Amino acid sequence: MKYALISDIHANLPALEAVLEHIDKHRDVVATYHLGDLVGYAPWPDETVSLLRAHGISGVAGNYDSTVGTDYKHCGCRYEDPRQEELSHISFNWTRRHVSPDTKEFLAGLPFRIDLLPNGGHVAGPRVILVHGTPTLNTLYWPEERSDDFCLKMSSHAGARAGDVIAFGHTHLPWHREVEGIHFVNTGSVGRPKDGDWRAGYVLLNVGQGPVSVEFVRVGYDLERAMRGVRESELPDDFAEYLRTGGRPAVTPAESR
Ligand SMILES: [Fe+2]
Repeated sequence: MKYALISDIHANLPALEAVLEHIDKHRDVVATYHLGDLVGYAPWPDETVSLLRAHGISGVAGNYDSTVGTDYKHCGCRYEDPRQEELSHISFNWTRRHVSPDTKEFLAGLPFRIDLLPNGGHVAGPRVILVHGTPTLNTLYWPEERSDDFCLKMSSHAGARAGDVIAFGHTHLPWHREVEGIHFVNTGSVGRPKDGDWRAGYVLLNVGQGPVSVEFVRVGYDLERAMRGVRESELPDDFAEYLRTGGRPAVTPAESR
């Protein structure tokens, strides 16, 4: 059973359009799921949500979605200097002002976690667990540097066993590791990659009969349109530069996400 997993779109409509088109070319993909953070940092929050809904793509709530949806005081993002903090607040306030009531309600209603049983719920497994950050909180970062112990703690919390997969995003940095037979997959980011590659990233996950396989896919998209959209909005131009450099702008080392 092959699934496409897309995460951290962050209102980058050109990137999402390119990824969905790319997925459509894979005739053997049975379903696409998003792993949250649909909005923030780019000027198309309503359009992004509408497109996902039009495609019937289900998914989980990212920290951005749940904080916008519940009128929380900030997006729950990490920042490492005052400029990042400022940019983060500008983005959050802009997004809260610009999402329609319908979009906001949709974000608030997203589930925290989704379980897939590719062989059917009538047999024991394997199980694919979809969350945004970790199985405990959608704000907690799970980078590749986390220890095996951390991974096992999270899998125990999630009720995962050998042969299962836990897939998540949030850090915008893709990785895959197997610990004691459990697969941990960070899908990277569609609309705001942070690994120095500006192209949209997503994962094709094959699970069910036979061994688990994880393919990291990168897709070029209309970057100029995305950058122009940011510049023509009230969002800071820094976000356009962030997109162009794949999260590694020279002047502002924005770690915000
Ligand atoms: Fe994110």
